[in-house]
Amino acid sequence: MLKKRKKYLLIIIPFIIVSIIYLNYNNITLYLKSITTGYNIKAIKVFEENNLENKINRYCETLDEAIIQNKYNPKFINIYYYVNYQDIDNFIDLVNKLATIGYNANDINAIFANINPKNIPIIIKNSYDKNLGEYIKLDYFDEEKLNRYINFSNNKEKLSYSIFYVQNKTYNAKDIVTFVNANLDKEYYSNDIILTDEESNKINVLVNKYYQLESTFVPKDLTPIESIYARNDSQLLQKEAATAFNQMCSDAKLENIKLYSGSAYRSYEYQSKIYNEYIKKDGLAQAETYSARPGYSEHQLGLAVDIMNSNWSYVNKDDIEYSWLITNAHKYGFILRYPENKEYITGYMFEPWHYRYLGIELATKVYNSGLTYDEYKARY
Ligand code: DAL
Ligand code: ZN
Repeated sequence: MLKKRKKYLLIIIPFIIVSIIYLNYNNITLYLKSITTGYNIKAIKVFEENNLENKINRYCETLDEAIIQNKYNPKFINIYYYVNYQDIDNFIDLVNKLATIGYNANDINAIFANINPKNIPIIIKNSYDKNLGEYIKLDYFDEEKLNRYINFSNNKEKLSYSIFYVQNKTYNAKDIVTFVNANLDKEYYSNDIILTDEESNKINVLVNKYYQLESTFVPKDLTPIESIYARNDSQLLQKEAATAFNQMCSDAKLENIKLYSGSAYRSYEYQSKIYNEYIKKDGLAQAETYSARPGYSEHQLGLAVDIMNSNWSYVNKDDIEYSWLITNAHKYGFILRYPENKEYITGYMFEPWHYRYLGIELATKVYNSGLTYDEYKARY
């Protein structure tokens, strides 16, 4: 009896084992695949059901999590696959939203690498910005201005509000950050910033249609330019700039280039007087293309000089004095401040005669950058 039962068991037990193995074969292979690949069983099933077995070859936590959390959108499988996982709240939701707007995996990686998660909703509430993935990586990208960059990049804000406005111009990632940093997405004179005397006394201070000087600001050590290089004896510059200007004129003279200061330091009151005269003569819109409003002129800094040629007229583009200055002025610390074709950035017409003193080191850097000083300051 006992023998018979043993025999019976010998048949039945292997049968049960084989059945269990057979019935669980799929689960066991899933389990083994899960162990070897790192993916959750649920993910492995999704891959098998959707012909995505190639995804198994590399583990991606973002893809795994999207599936585990039941938040994956089949359209975005490839996005999850290439997005580096971040251990932050609602990560998969954020990825889904960014992907829905149109951002690809590269953009999304750049976003998580460069943007504080608390600011990602700013990106989400805007429409797709094709430049964003690139400009957020720039050194001079300032996260606080994120919304402005997106609006500017998506043409919701124009660049420069003057007659220099260029329609349908496209801007690259660097331009977008530079121009917004330079406030060019805002109307001229809309910045309420008035520079303190301490700021105004720095050689590198930026004065333009967004940065204004106090009406009472007078530079500290105004010094007359040597009379042989000046139209009259009221040509003053800050001492350091005056010394550099004299040296430049003296060296130019050795090469038979005659340079003179036609207009250097101008007080707030004097700028006010000439600005109003220009308006009477040419009307406001025209006058503002070549004359600064009082408080907005570099001439009030005692660091700007309008240079005259050997005929005692302001240097022009075709003059030998212009060629000399354009190649040499930076070696003395001066830069051409309102270059040709940069009118929409500087807000002023091309002024081949107007030079700004910055000191040799900075002037050389600005010169080599090929940027206007407005752009340079927006980047460095
Ligand atoms: N002409 C320059 C812009 C000035 O008035 O300062
Ligand atoms: Zn000038």
